[in-house]
Amino acid sequence: MKRIGMLTSGGDCQALNAAMRGVVKCLSCSGEPVEIYGFLEGYKGLIYGNFRMLTGADFSGILTKGGTILGSSRTPFKLMREPDENGLDKVEAMKQNYYKLRLDCIVILGGNGTHKTANMLREEGLNVVTLPKTIDNDLWGTDMTFGFQSAVNIATDCIDCIHTTAASHGRVFIVEVMGHKVGYLTLNAGMAGGADIILIPEIPYDINKVVDAIKKRSERGSKFTILAVAEGAISKEDAALSKKEYKKKMADYKYPSVSYEIAEKIQKKTGLDVRVTVPGHTQRGGSPCPYDRVFASRLGAQAGRMILNGEYGFMVGYKNREIVKVPLEDVAGRLKMVEPDSDIIQEAKMLGISFGD
Ligand code: F6P
Repeated sequence: MKRIGMLTSGGDCQALNAAMRGVVKCLSCSGEPVEIYGFLEGYKGLIYGNFRMLTGADFSGILTKGGTILGSSRTPFKLMREPDENGLDKVEAMKQNYYKLRLDCIVILGGNGTHKTANMLREEGLNVVTLPKTIDNDLWGTDMTFGFQSAVNIATDCIDCIHTTAASHGRVFIVEVMGHKVGYLTLNAGMAGGADIILIPEIPYDINKVVDAIKKRSERGSKFTILAVAEGAISKEDAALSKKEYKKKMADYKYPSVSYEIAEKIQKKTGLDVRVTVPGHTQRGGSPCPYDRVFASRLGAQAGRMILNGEYGFMVGYKNREIVKVPLEDVAGRLKMVEPDSDIIQEAKMLGISFGD
């Protein structure tokens, strides 16, 4: 008999359910009797002992379902070692709940913050297996995270829709894409949607170069320009500020987000009509795309196999087209970012896309 805990933590994304279903299907197909304890709303469930015993029926029909059947929440890693408002030691509480239920292992689905806590639980002696979820694709140790391809589809659809109206009105349009501090989502959706200018955090932009790229298009007879701007895009001047100076600037920031600042500058420098569209959390919503359904199911199945083999302390990752086991201590606290001189950036530049650098 295997007793498995499971939780989804951090911002949700598509294919969380598909991944959990993959784990459970693999375990039940093995013939080994298994009990599944689903902790509700991320680490909160493990801390406060909020769980539901799940059966095969809970995992039936969820391959295509977005969100997470367990619910999710953000519990910042830096607060994990601090007692809660009632003085509860959260780490100790998580361990006690794990031992009380006599779990063999806990399966944790999450992104960067989640992995720091997962690794801490491993260091504390719990058996942990993790699965890489996030639309940002910024987890170190895996070429791909599930949720990413679905989000690329949604952000691309948004750029496609903007294209037609931008062309009709001869406007400059900015589509602001999620991705936190990394540019994978913007880069991929931008290229897929035929954006003319792509601004990502890894390549700080010069607003004059952005304006030059727009003017060049106008001179060539193009009446509109599409910019895909990452929510974390940063100008060269801001990138040169110290952490303290940047924090101060952001404390007095008057724009809802970076795209509005860029839009105002473009408008002032060109006199063109500029509009901003922010698809926001739609990028995390809806059904997983077929790629993510297959990918998350494969990762889930491999996690199930690792549990059957008693292999713990790993994230199930994907490297060079193979599913691999990545030690949690290697993943925790490391961010994967777009390399400014990577092939894809060079190829995008060969296609005439400006990065404002
Ligand atoms: O990490 C996923 C993500 O969607 C980021 O792209 C974005 O910056 C952030 O989460 C938004 O977080 P929240 O859901 O807390 O607003």
